[in-house]
Amino acid sequence: MRTHAEIVGWGKHVPSKVLTNSDLESMLDTSDEWIKTRTGISERRIAAAKETSATMASRAAFAALEVADLSPNKIDLIIAATSTPDHLMPSTASLIQDSIGATNAGAMDINAACSGFVYALSVGSGLIAGGSHQNVLVIGTDTMSRILDYTDRGTSVLFGDGAGAVVLRATEDVTGVLSSSLGSDGSGAHLLWIPGGGARHPASLETVQNRMHYIKMNGNEVYRFAVNVMTKASLQVVKDAGLTLDDIELFIPHQANIRIIQSAAKSLKVPIEKIFTNVERYGNTSAASVPIALCEAIEQGRVKAGEHIVLVAFGAGLTWAATVIRWGVPAVAPRLPWWKAILHRFRGQEAAAKSLARRTGRKIPR
Ligand code: UT7
Repeated sequence: MRTHAEIVGWGKHVPSKVLTNSDLESMLDTSDEWIKTRTGISERRIAAAKETSATMASRAAFAALEVADLSPNKIDLIIAATSTPDHLMPSTASLIQDSIGATNAGAMDINAACSGFVYALSVGSGLIAGGSHQNVLVIGTDTMSRILDYTDRGTSVLFGDGAGAVVLRATEDVTGVLSSSLGSDGSGAHLLWIPGGGARHPASLETVQNRMHYIKMNGNEVYRFAVNVMTKASLQVVKDAGLTLDDIELFIPHQANIRIIQSAAKSLKVPIEKIFTNVERYGNTSAASVPIALCEAIEQGRVKAGEHIVLVAFGAGLTWAATVIRWGVPAVAPRLPWWKAILHRFRGQEAAAKSLARRTGRKIPR
């Protein structure tokens, strides 16, 4: 019997600071009206000085582990999808591994930009299906505000910060990830990129003066590419899962631009009611966008056991990725049992204990 990887835990973290379109009006030559009509975005979250891709990811991971009722030391592997790692080296996943106390886990990053979470989900589920892993933590996390040029109105209004995580667990049931498709066209690398700071143009006075450490983008080209690959990849994974578009109850696309999402829906002939969006409140959070949207779809009661969901994303590379999931577990977040913090501390899981205590607003008795 084939082993599948099902999602048994989910969690998100977004910074508390909100940057609205009217805030941006006072920083740039832009308008709330332009941003809303061209992108659908009203506001986005911005990381506080101490927040990074690793810290946001750790908070999302704790939330996901709580839902899965899984101790961090039971995780075999952490895959962090990010294009804004805390450092070029070591991996952000290793920092997360340490901070959540996942003492038995391997850790690695995947950089497939905004497609990264769906890539990571495919890798994680493949390792589970192959039999070498039982529990894999898959995270999408990005601190886009650190790589945005707030003098460039063509990019800085689009992105925000956040993290989302899921726990994948091995199951013999035909549920979880049913099919995946990953794609890349590196001939479009220069359409969405950060030219400086890597091995080609290491950080120097010149790269800083030329603002080469910020995102550069050809928006129109990326737009055309996005609609095309979202349609193509969605059709592919639905077919590979042995399903038709009518069998899909919910589509969770990468939240980059409401117009891209609407155009893809039109080209797929999928009613817009079947498509989850939250781009209005978070903007494009890159690799975090799909898992944050998944968490919010669950919070809103839009995910039910037995239903089929398509996750689909595109991004720098250029890359794209899609997957079909048959949802297997009740999609309700459990009440946070604050007393479990005592259990975590008793087991030596201090970081998990503190995270739960913080989220429940309770002090752990000594
Ligand atoms: O995860 C992948 C991330 N990337 C994307 O998803 C990007 C995909 N592309 C897009 O979402 C859209 O192409 C944009 C939202 C970036 C741009 O929308 P557009 O409808 O393609 O606008 P445009 O680039 O054709 O620009 C139209 C006008 C230009 O002015 P002129 O040359 O017509 O006078 C721009 O300079 O809008 C101007 N413009 C702005 N005006 C006010 C560009 N950015 C802004 C802005 N505020 N923020």
